[in-house]
Amino acid sequence: MTASHVSGLPASLHPPILRHLALYIVVAKILNVTPLDSKQSLQQPSLTISGNLGKDSMLVQLLLLSSILLTCVSNGNAGVTSSFIRNEWPSVDIPLDNEVFAVPKGYNAPQQVHITQGDYDGRAVIISWVTADEPGSNQVRVGLSEGKYDFVAEGTVHNYTFYNYKSGYIHQCLVGDLQYDTKYYYAIGDGDSSRKFWFKTPPEIDPDASYKFGIIGDLGQTFNSLSTLKHCMQTSAQTILFVGDLSYADRYDNHDVGVRWDSWGRFVEPSAAYQPWIWSAGNHEIEYFPHMGEVIPFRNYLHRYPTPYPASKSSSPLWYAVRRASAHIIVLSSYSPFVKYTPQWRWLEEELKRVDREKTPWLIVLMHAPIYNSNNAHFMEGESMRVVFESWFCQYKVDVIFAGHVHAYERSYRISNIRPDSSNPVPDKSAPVYITVGDGGNQEGLANRFRDPQPDYSAFREASYGHSTLEIKNRTHAIYHWNRNDEGKRVPTDSFVLHNQYWGNNRRRRKLKKNHLHSVVATLQVGENLDLLSMGM
Ligand SMILES: *[C@@H]1O[C@H](CO)[C@@H](O)[C@H](O)[C@H]1NC(C)=O
Ligand SMILES: *[C@@H]1O[C@H](CO)[C@@H](O)[C@H](O)[C@H]1NC(C)=O
Ligand SMILES: [Fe+2]
Repeated sequence: MTASHVSGLPASLHPPILRHLALYIVVAKILNVTPLDSKQSLQQPSLTISGNLGKDSMLVQLLLLSSILLTCVSNGNAGVTSSFIRNEWPSVDIPLDNEVFAVPKGYNAPQQVHITQGDYDGRAVIISWVTADEPGSNQVRVGLSEGKYDFVAEGTVHNYTFYNYKSGYIHQCLVGDLQYDTKYYYAIGDGDSSRKFWFKTPPEIDPDASYKFGIIGDLGQTFNSLSTLKHCMQTSAQTILFVGDLSYADRYDNHDVGVRWDSWGRFVEPSAAYQPWIWSAGNHEIEYFPHMGEVIPFRNYLHRYPTPYPASKSSSPLWYAVRRASAHIIVLSSYSPFVKYTPQWRWLEEELKRVDREKTPWLIVLMHAPIYNSNNAHFMEGESMRVVFESWFCQYKVDVIFAGHVHAYERSYRISNIRPDSSNPVPDKSAPVYITVGDGGNQEGLANRFRDPQPDYSAFREASYGHSTLEIKNRTHAIYHWNRNDEGKRVPTDSFVLHNQYWGNNRRRRKLKKNHLHSVVATLQVGENLDLLSMGM
């Protein structure tokens, strides 16, 4: 595949300024993205103009759309490459004797505590922890107030070896039948060494449930990673969507691989013991090490980070889905077979059919290798998955796809490359926004060489560390931020209002449908069709 294949659309045509303006209007409409931030000055005019255009001028829109398609998008670089050069901490891992890796006090005290969703809809959590000295208790004590634990759940314990490393005792406990939207306190461990935490269940599945997600990728365990983690915790994100590459322990040899998985577990505990992290696996989780006799992929990861995959009828913990508040979150595995007829492909085909945008309007996909990436790092690595899944992402109108892998930040416009008569990405209002947040701050450093010129599909890109938040307000609106780590501060840098792809974009069509239905009903016998009307059609 040649570079021009993805480097965007031909910039040979230079339309007059009026058409240029029209183009911005349409692009803003098609992309369904309203910038909040004055830093994106290029997009600002489009916002104002499209606002004045009037919401129902579909005809105008269609005319402009066809003019765009005919002239081939030719506005050169609509996107922004940020010139910000940040001072970074050295990209080295925090020494093991640092307090962020401190082992909790007490004999056999639970450590590396983390929680994740335990069922499809958010009424269960899986609580995991490690004890170092002996198996100890598998019990989780749960209650509605601190220190008063009315329920007890019983989990499992196991240990494993990795080369010459022997793991601690890994406890996993499913706590189910929880009430929605409730704060629970929990205690684990025995006697003086027991430890207390809490978590909050999400609201019941509801199209207008508001909810705030944090998004982190490629975290590692450096001082930059610590900055990212702290900043994300400041945002009061209720759940973390993690897009792969957790510990970077695979950069170590022999025994230290296991040691650095343990240190990372302690490193993220201040967040992960309280806010569920929705896990997806990256290439650093593969750990295929024939030289160490370790040839089963994802072993350390799978032993330590359970996922609720049976709840979504998946056959593997590496791909699954959960529903939370108003979001349907699909986790894919970039490093497991996904071509046609593989288990992952078959599962996704079925899972997409289960998505009910009337109940969970927000359809979010997580994967590790980005499908659209204009950085030299990992360029085109997501291409094979794009070929297999992109048409589904458009057909099902995925709202946003978060990926990691590239150690920089990038956001795309709504574009797709699925037309049989073209091999270039073109604006597509059914397409997701693609966001790369592989900027957690691991020891491999920044990917600071973007391709030049910036392809037309790329809206904003910057080689800095940070994390994102997605704050869902209701069924139509969500507010997105990318927050850069800047000299120890969290600086919101790229932000926009994400309009829901089902309730936003399709509202007009749905209205038409409704009117159509009314007229159909009117021609039928009155009476027996009242049910149809009351179904909210
Ligand atoms: C698990 O721990 C027990 C001691 O409690 C030990 O005998 C056994 O070898 C360990 N298993 C593995 C797979 O490391
Ligand atoms: C949804 O949230 C947005 C942003 O907060 C607000 O402007 C809009 O009115 C809300 N819509 C409904 C139906 O509540
Ligand atoms: Fe990666």
